[in-house]
Amino acid sequence: MRKAFDKLTSGMYLVGTKADKEAGCIVNTFEQVASKPELVVIAINKENYTCTQIRKSKKFNVTVLKEDTDKEIINTFGFSSSEFNDKYKAYNKKYDLLGLPYIENDMVALFSVRVKEEIDANTHIVFMGEVSESVLLSEDRPMTYDYYRTVKNGITPPKASTYQKPKAVSGYKCDVCGYIYRGEELPIDYICPICGQTHFTKICE
Ligand SMILES: Cc1cc2nc3c(=O)[nH]c(=O)nc-3n(C[C@H](O)[C@H](O)[C@H](O)COP(=O)(O)O)c2cc1C
Repeated sequence: MRKAFDKLTSGMYLVGTKADKEAGCIVNTFEQVASKPELVVIAINKENYTCTQIRKSKKFNVTVLKEDTDKEIINTFGFSSSEFNDKYKAYNKKYDLLGLPYIENDMVALFSVRVKEEIDANTHIVFMGEVSESVLLSEDRPMTYDYYRTVKNGITPPKASTYQKPKAVSGYKCDVCGYIYRGEELPIDYICPICGQTHFTKICE
């Protein structure tokens, strides 16, 4: 059931990399999977420019967004392509020890990672890598994916691993007698053929 997936907890992260060009995108799929050595994974859509740049450079970094991160950062890095855009231009970027760009403001931690393995996950590539540097940037609270969706009313684009297609409208239920009108659009001024009133609630399946 789709709602079960909403119970998965994750954070909000900015992945940065560079091969031919600096690239970066928002992800909520970053996880530590071992501690000796410190191994982590990220899942990046094959169509994201960040994916092609990580495959070439074999390295990436991840910064953890703080709870009140400026929404513009999420809009810039989560909803446009680095192929046509210098996403870092508007921000005071820095470079980690791997020579990769990151934004320090609005972030609470930085991890620099060398890729050890790529796993094909159909639409995505799962990159597993070893952390070469980890830095605490601030003591602020990190933003969770749940906070982004429920408090910030944030949305998730189709290329995200956790994207859920909006449900299609299948009909309208009469608020008084429960009669169901089947169809995507309720005709204007439609009157319930059973009880004669005009209040209906959308049914999505
Ligand atoms: C909340 C949120 C979560 C996302 N999670 C992922 C993810 O886990 N993996 C991914 O590949 N893209 C994810 N995305 C989508 C990318 O950030 C987006 O497609 C971006 O524009 C790609 O930029 P690029 O082409 O420069 O790499 C997410 C976006 C948002 C807003």
